[in-house]
Amino acid sequence: MRILVSGGCGYIGSHTVIRLIENGYDVTVFDNLYNSKITVLDKIEKITGVRPDFVLCDMTDIASLEAIFRDSHFDAVIHFAGYKAVGESIEKPLMYYDNNITGTLNLLELMEKYNVKNLIFSSSATVYGLPEKCPVDEKSPLFCLNPYGRTKLMIEQILLDLCNADKDFSAVMLRYFNPVGAHPSGLIAEDPNGIPNNLMPRIISAAKGKIKELKVFGDDYDTRDGTCIRDYIHVLDLADGHVAALNYVFKHKGNIAVNLGTGNGYTVLELIKTFEKVNGVKVPYSIAPRREGDSKSTYADNSFAKEILGWEAKLGVEDMCRDAWKGALNYE
Ligand code: NAD
Ligand code: UFG
Repeated sequence: MRILVSGGCGYIGSHTVIRLIENGYDVTVFDNLYNSKITVLDKIEKITGVRPDFVLCDMTDIASLEAIFRDSHFDAVIHFAGYKAVGESIEKPLMYYDNNITGTLNLLELMEKYNVKNLIFSSSATVYGLPEKCPVDEKSPLFCLNPYGRTKLMIEQILLDLCNADKDFSAVMLRYFNPVGAHPSGLIAEDPNGIPNNLMPRIISAAKGKIKELKVFGDDYDTRDGTCIRDYIHVLDLADGHVAALNYVFKHKGNIAVNLGTGNGYTVLELIKTFEKVNGVKVPYSIAPRREGDSKSTYADNSFAKEILGWEAKLGVEDMCRDAWKGALNYE
């Protein structure tokens, strides 16, 4: 079976492509390389022994996207492509709506036209906004605090409408919690173009001395050490969640949203301490004011993923910290 992977050169996409190949799927990746590098394909080949087909394509350009559908038949699409920086989305909302929404509409239109009826979509725990209670389950109220999050929520709603209109269509919307870590080979890792915003890449920057210190955003939250709680999940566990979702999507019609998280919450300081302990390095940090829009605590109720996909995370926070550092040592 052949799977089309949009954004497959990116962080989560490249790890998922590895798992797809290891599970016997043929893979075609398309990416515009906005936030990734073509060299990741060499690394995927080194790890798996197979080089996925690659097409350089921007999904907002429907003509070049259509050429991909014309050339091959796909059994399913896994849709990672999109912009993902929350702060940037507030500054440049139109850029986010255009890329994430227009690009997705183009993809869906072509899936309909070429009779490709199975989709896995990268949604996000960001659709829960500031959760009132944790763990957060899929029935929790949905609310977005920024344009990036709204693109995720809008796409979820578009998929709901599409599945209502086309009873042959099947969509699994995976709501990722906080993906971190890297392939244990150290060959591929999160390698964003530009300055990283998320916690783990900044821990790495501080450990490498690329920034003077990590700023911990707030230590006066009502949590066990005053810092925010998140559900960090190893990117390879997340990748396996996509393989499980593919098995599901081939056997079911309609639309479901599924949390992909470990179900365990860690504070910012706990993650820093674990990183230092596991890797034997120092992470210089200081306490800074709270970051606007941060939720005090977000971690998953993952029972639906276990029940419906037969999936659960296997790797712990030590594995995440060790593999993230190993991967980072091979990058600038
Ligand atoms: P990433 O930026 O590493 O990967 C996205 C890929 O999509 C990149 O390779 C980029 O070049 C490509 N892309 C962007 N716009 C494109 C376009 N118009 N046409 C073709 N390719 C395009 O991001 P990631 O961390 O791997 O995230 C993958 C998906 O998961 C995204 O949709 C993101 O919103 C979602 N997500 C990520 C996180 C996270 O913390 N990493 C959390 C929740 C959800
Ligand atoms: N943090 C710091 N210092 C930093 C960066 C982050 O203290 O330099 C803290 C944040 O305040 C937060 C925690 O680390 O408490 C995690 O922050 P991230 O930015 O790594 O992650 P978020 O949970 O804020 O958001 C991430 C993605 C979103 C996604 C969401 C849910 O950035 O795109 O997870 O999946 F929607």
